Order: sequence, then structure tokens, then C-alpha cells
Amino acid sequence: MNIIFVGPPGAGKGTQAQVISKTFKIPHISTGDMLRNEMESGSELGKKVRDIINSGKLVDDAVMNQIVKERLSKPDTKNGFILDGFPRTLNQAKALDEILSSIGKKLDHVIYVDVPEKVIVERLSARRMCPKCGRNYNMITDPPKEDELCDDCHVPLITRDDDKPETVRNRYKVYLELTKPVIDYYSAKKLLFTVDGTLPVREVEEILIKMIEGKK
Ligand code: AP5
Ligand code: MG
Repeated sequence: MNIIFVGPPGAGKGTQAQVISKTFKIPHISTGDMLRNEMESGSELGKKVRDIINSGKLVDDAVMNQIVKERLSKPDTKNGFILDGFPRTLNQAKALDEILSSIGKKLDHVIYVDVPEKVIVERLSARRMCPKCGRNYNMITDPPKEDELCDDCHVPLITRDDDKPETVRNRYKVYLELTKPVIDYYSAKKLLFTVDGTLPVREVEEILIKMIEGKK
């Protein structure tokens, strides 16, 4: 089962991708998480991308295509994968077509999590993330059981540097300009499944699991 999650920043792609990853036992590949790990480790790539990410712009297509190509060649993707945050430009979507055909794979679903801009700024200001496992929380709609600690890893949750309201608005602009065309690209290929991301987390989960189960 090879799945892509697309949608605006804060739509709930990561939240849902984690559930689908556990349910269907396929790896969750978030390019945002991969880049944040690079920043955390202090690698050359991490240093290069920090300012780009914190301004809400996109990292170079060539860099991203290479990262994803390498990741998809790992053996844990044998039975499937979930890409979250890639592709987000038409160039990346076309590069992914080439990568997949070179390793004899094809996409099964492209899930578009649809959420309007006004909900996004609100949601992202309340988002917290586990620095260890990457699980997302929301201090209003989906708080951890213990105050600001991850339910699974019990480490203190953090706020992402790019969740400041002005950066979120920039990320949304970039999304409209560069990522919306990717959604149209997959819609034309009849791969797109749209889910209303304003529904409660558990309802979105149920809709997606049913859809994937039905088409397995
Ligand atoms: P990335 O990490 O991919 O960020 P993003 O796409 O902006 O999306 P987010 O992770 O912010 O949101 P999400 O949809 O995962 O929502 P979440 O589940 O957390 O990328 C970050 C940056 O890296 C980019 O800006 C770019 O610079 C760079 N980058 C990454 N990939 C790249 C690429 N391919 N090319 C170039 N550059 C790239 O949910 C958000 C909040 O809402 C949480 O608090 C959650 O608890 C809550 N929530 C989720 N669902 C619901 C719901 N149904 N109801 C209520 N609350 C909900
Ligand atoms: Mg995410």
C-alpha cells in the first residue's frame, strides 16, 4: 500500500499518517520530520535548511528528490509507505513518478486533507510535538494526558519554530502557489481521495481506514 498525504500546513497530515502507519504497518516518511532531524543533529544539510524552513519557504527540489529517492530504496518500504509532505511541487511529483517506476512501484492513494486557512493558524498556534517520536498534540483539541509530556515517550513536548503566525501565513501562501497544482495533478490521474480535515481526529481516522480497507 503506497500512500501520499497532501494538504495545507496544519491540515492533520502527520496526525493521520501516524495512525495509518501503525494500522497498516507501513513506514511513515515525513520529509518535514527528516529535515527537522537534520537540523537537530547539526549536519551540513540541517544548517543549510534551517533558515529556509523557519521562513516558511521550500527546500530545493533537487535536494528533496534525492532524500526521498534514498529513503524509498530502504527495505522497510517493501510492503508500502506513507509519504507525508512530499511531493509539494509539480517538479517533485514528476520526480516521484520516475523514482517509483525505476523501483517498480506505483501509488495506490493520494489523500488530500482539506482544511481552510482560518482553522490552520488557530490549530498551529496550539500544536505541540514530541521531539522523540514526532507525535503531534494540540493543547486545545488533542492534549496529552500529562501536562505537556508525550503519552508514549514521557518527554517534554516542544513547539515548532515555524509555527509562529507570520511564518504559518507564509507557508500557506507557498502551499497555494506551489502545492495546490500537485493536488490537481493527482486529481487528473484519478488517484485523489479528499477527506474533510475539519472533522474530529477520530472521525478522519475512521474514514481513511475504511477507504483503505475497502480498496486493499
Ligand atoms: P512539514 O513538516 O511537512 O510541514 P507542513 O506541510 O507545513 O505541515 P505540518 O506538519 O505543519 O502540518 P500537518 O498537516 O502534518 O498537521 P499535524 O498533523 O501536525 O514541512 C515543514 C517545512 O519543511 C516546510 O515548510 C518546508 O520548508 C520543508 N519541507 C518539508 N518537505 C518539503 C518538500 N517536500 N519540499 C520542500 N521543502 C519541504 O496537525 C496540526 C495540528 O492540528 C496538531 O496540533 C494536531 O494535533 C491538530 N489536529 C490534527 N488533526 C486535527 C483535527 N482533525 N481536528 C483538530 N485538530 C487537529
Ligand atoms: Mg506534519
